[in-house]
Amino acid sequence: MQQLGNITQSDFLKQYWQKKPLLVRQAFPNYKSPISPEELAGLACEEGIESRLIQENGPDRPWQVQYGPFKENDFTSLPKSHWSLLVQAADHHIPELSQLLDEFNFIPNWRIDDLMISYAPIHGSVGPHLDNYDVFLLQVKGRRHWHINEHAYTEDDFDNDLELRILNSFNAEEDWVLKPGDMLYLPPGVAHHGIALDDCLTYSIGFRAPSQKELLSAFTVNFNDVAKDKFYTDPKLKTQEFSGEIKKEDIESLHEMVLSTCSNKADFASWFGRFITDNRDDYEQEEAIVNEPEFYTSLKEAKHISRYGNVRMSYIDDGNTIKLFYAGNESSLPKSQLPLIQYLCSKHRLECAVLLKFDDEHHSLSLLYKLHKEGCLTFDE
Ligand code: SIN
Ligand code: CO
Repeated sequence: MQQLGNITQSDFLKQYWQKKPLLVRQAFPNYKSPISPEELAGLACEEGIESRLIQENGPDRPWQVQYGPFKENDFTSLPKSHWSLLVQAADHHIPELSQLLDEFNFIPNWRIDDLMISYAPIHGSVGPHLDNYDVFLLQVKGRRHWHINEHAYTEDDFDNDLELRILNSFNAEEDWVLKPGDMLYLPPGVAHHGIALDDCLTYSIGFRAPSQKELLSAFTVNFNDVAKDKFYTDPKLKTQEFSGEIKKEDIESLHEMVLSTCSNKADFASWFGRFITDNRDDYEQEEAIVNEPEFYTSLKEAKHISRYGNVRMSYIDDGNTIKLFYAGNESSLPKSQLPLIQYLCSKHRLECAVLLKFDDEHHSLSLLYKLHKEGCLTFDE
């Protein structure tokens, strides 16, 4: 596959994924960004879009960060160099970008976080730093000089006086100039510094690794309802010599009381599917074609139906049924619908002709109507 050069997907996973950097020259040859730097600045002025402006020599302090939404004159007053504009989750807003994420489907889609776009004029960068997640850095316009170092940095290596977590002394072990179409994969924890050599656009396809803290706190909130009416009981309480002692057996019962709320794997799986696909903070429901027959007519007439970029969709095959998760919702479906669900989850832009082949006596396509009605799927203009 071209995205990984001469390396197969399975070799990539075995040798590089979460292990070491990989530079792929011309991973996406002739790729044309659906968004220009000017349009990116426009996006950063919109309400509900997460954006940052980073100035290496800011008006108030070095590595100054400002957060969007911005106004047009925030950009006109900038210096000619040494700054960067970053727009998070651009795939939620530009369909071509959510389709680009499908090119990375050799990695489970629940692992994908978002596609961030950065624009920088000459010398622009976000400073030397490291991230806790895997990232593919795709050069889309202009050239960026990437420097990396695989040294294991500690807290002491960061400059505490800055808003950004920037490494205070960074020397490159390796460096490359990336041209449009080139891509650099970095596993978590590899220090990197990308400096624009000219007007440059870089896409960061970032992956998501839930932390233990995040999982546990979200999971506990979910189990609040299940657990609230259960109280500790000790009908077999025996006399104890010192009343101040919390006995080992009491700890056992208390520990069991907590663990029993999360020991059911099927419940955990359902919760996780809902949790990991719940991504619709910026969701705006488009008007659906409410009537079912009309929907089928459109499905037959249209070429494509697309999933909104902010609607995450994954499934679990539990052997008996298929649990489809979409935008934090769960739907239990018969096993016979697996091929349809596999197709549905693997692409943001679906071919209507392919979908129609899944039509059967079980009304499988009613699932598509339901998803359309709930604002997850829309016909292309
Ligand atoms: C950038 O695109 O300038 C920064 C991306 C990164 O370092 O993760
Ligand atoms: Co980074």
